[in-house]
Amino acid sequence: MPVLLEVKNLKTYFKVYHGLVKAVDDISYHIKKKEIVGLVGESGCGKSVSQLSVLQLIPTPPGEIVAGQIIFEGQDLLQFEANGDEMRSIRGGGIAMVFQEPMTSLNPVLTIGRQLTEGLELHLGMDVNEARNRAIELLSMVGIPDADKRIDDYPHQFSGGMRQRVMIAMALSCNPKIIIADEPTTALDVTTQAQLLELMTDLVSRFNASLVIVTHNLGVIARYAQRLYVMYAGRIVESGTAKEIFGNPRHPYTIALLNCVPRLDEEEGRKLVPIEGMPPNLLNMPITCAFKPRCPYHIERCGQDPWPDLKLIEGQHYVRCYVET
Ligand SMILES: Nc1ncnc2c1ncn2[C@@H]1O[C@H](COP(=O)(O)OP(=O)(O)OP(=O)(O)O)[C@@H](O)[C@H]1O
Ligand SMILES: [Mg+2]
Repeated sequence: MPVLLEVKNLKTYFKVYHGLVKAVDDISYHIKKKEIVGLVGESGCGKSVSQLSVLQLIPTPPGEIVAGQIIFEGQDLLQFEANGDEMRSIRGGGIAMVFQEPMTSLNPVLTIGRQLTEGLELHLGMDVNEARNRAIELLSMVGIPDADKRIDDYPHQFSGGMRQRVMIAMALSCNPKIIIADEPTTALDVTTQAQLLELMTDLVSRFNASLVIVTHNLGVIARYAQRLYVMYAGRIVESGTAKEIFGNPRHPYTIALLNCVPRLDEEEGRKLVPIEGMPPNLLNMPITCAFKPRCPYHIERCGQDPWPDLKLIEGQHYVRCYVET
């Protein structure tokens, strides 16, 4: 499948009182057509900032995209004004995002229906009736019962899981090529989480779209992602197909992440091992490997030489580490 989105050497920094937070520091990745890709890492490692950068939704100041290219369908999105028409149309129809917290992304004073029909009228040029019918169709598609009645409700009349479903309907409404689901399920119970992921993966395949699942839990995406990027401290530390990463995890951080995922198929008695130590402070980072202070495998070199580049292991499997794990 052809590459739809290619992010090259993206750097997004925040100027704060005490210095510069290098939230995303030189990451490159790509998403192919119809692909489901996972972006995984601990809280604060730069997952959301990287995805918000793609849509130029970084609050500026304090944030700034200081370097990189974001090539979507042959165009570098960073050449466009953040608030210009081109970016607005990309956000409307090209790349849609489902946010972490639906209550903050839905407008509390507008009905669910109005929030859905607005985009349909604006971006797809539908008239009021067409838009309403399509909105009802989308709501049923995401599993809202009695969609033709619930469409006139307000967000607070919906449960958390239903609000997430509405967000998914909104993301799908303008036939995007890519949906970015930023930790779409953290506020919900596990059963609802699983149902929503199942729903989303099913819908993107029906819509021929690609899906980026952003999460801190490798277990959540093990079933769905075809390829993965593991992030640590603003960088990608390992990437590859799901088979390469789950079958042969190479970065000590990925191994640590896998050790704290409970598994249903495992032999009894395996202990879940939390990752020792604290996530790094992205303010004034060392040039050496940021995971070294927490890494059980580190060698002398790790504390002396700069963090290495990603190195090809085999196939599509890349790792940023000096240690042969
Ligand atoms: N507006 C801001 N001002 C200053 N620093 C910011 C701002 N937004 C994000 N950051 C910093 O950027 C870093 C990356 O944040 P980001 O939200 O991308 O993390 P994340 O990986 O999405 O974490 P989570 O899993 O908790 O959502 C964090 O260290 C955060 O403190
Ligand atoms: Mg986030």
